[in-house]
Amino acid sequence: MSSNVNIDWGKLGFSYIKTDLRYISVYKDGKWDEGKLVEDNMLYISEASTSLHYGQECFEGLKAYRTKEGKIQLFRPDENAKRMQQSCRRVLMPEIPVEKFIDACIQVAKANEAYVPPHGTGATLYLRPFMIGVGDNVGVKPASEYIFRVFCTPVGPYFKGGMAPVNFTISEYDRAAPYGTGAAKVGGNYAGSLYPHELAAGKGYADCVYLDPATHTKIEEVGAANFFGITKDNKFVTPKSPSILPSITKYSLMHIAKAYLGLEVEERDIYVDKLDELKEAGACGTAAVITPIGGIEYKGNLHVFHSETEVGPVTKKLYDTLYGIQFGDVKAPEGWIVEV
Ligand code: PLP
Ligand code: COI
Repeated sequence: MSSNVNIDWGKLGFSYIKTDLRYISVYKDGKWDEGKLVEDNMLYISEASTSLHYGQECFEGLKAYRTKEGKIQLFRPDENAKRMQQSCRRVLMPEIPVEKFIDACIQVAKANEAYVPPHGTGATLYLRPFMIGVGDNVGVKPASEYIFRVFCTPVGPYFKGGMAPVNFTISEYDRAAPYGTGAAKVGGNYAGSLYPHELAAGKGYADCVYLDPATHTKIEEVGAANFFGITKDNKFVTPKSPSILPSITKYSLMHIAKAYLGLEVEERDIYVDKLDELKEAGACGTAAVITPIGGIEYKGNLHVFHSETEVGPVTKKLYDTLYGIQFGDVKAPEGWIVEV
């Protein structure tokens, strides 16, 4: 076990660093085993596993935060657990009980405590729970065996620049179909987003924004984060659609906007040709936290919201409150924080 880790916390990006221990539980003969921590970061599975061929898998992402007192805490892990159950139902995998999911996350964070970045560095320990269909199974049907695994890695900002605004471009591609798997956190959605992301990055954008797959007129979300805006009359607005991932950060921000900032909140359609109604915009998610959007390119025009270089005042307040709650500096609503 490496209790002394040599990491420049302030310089971390969003990439994999091998930590000491990860959790594994196996589903066989209709039940989950006890689960345990293991050292080996490799998985040994059948070449005929459904996860490899038919994408029968799903994953989650949540973080462990170091408070200024030195404690470690998780942010709303029950919501990740429930969302994983929804993803499992969509791709016919056995659900992991909420308590088992949270216990696995706590065990992993505790066992890798040396990798939880110090308070004040802005860095966090990112936890990646996932489930895969395994075993010998070549037909297109659900596996009979599954692995639930949780690993962790210390991370910094997902989008380069952290709280500095970034620009996005509207993709001509869809990340999900109207009645597809967009609301489930399954790997296939992300495989399909790699090419549109590469096109966006090639044009100098941080990522792309997807429109609704049925009409291509409404903002859906970013490749790895939800979208929100602040209207000129000071409302927090965010898209409502069955094909976006129900972001825990976005629902937390809706509560924060209302309860902490006193804003009106609307989950509703945001039309790409009416971006003028917004004075600020941002991407939100566990990895992205809040990433201010400077501008969005659509059909050759860059629509700038607040500024391409400065963070808007409402976005800043939302960020400070969310960040404060996650790191234990601002009082959290009941049930949002779980101590490790
Ligand atoms: N949308 C997509 C496609 C994502 O991958 C993520 C990341 O989890 C989010 C939104 C944000 O969700 P959350 O706030 O629960 O992390
Ligand atoms: C997250 O925010 O947890 C994500 O899953 C986004 C991305 C890294 C896939």
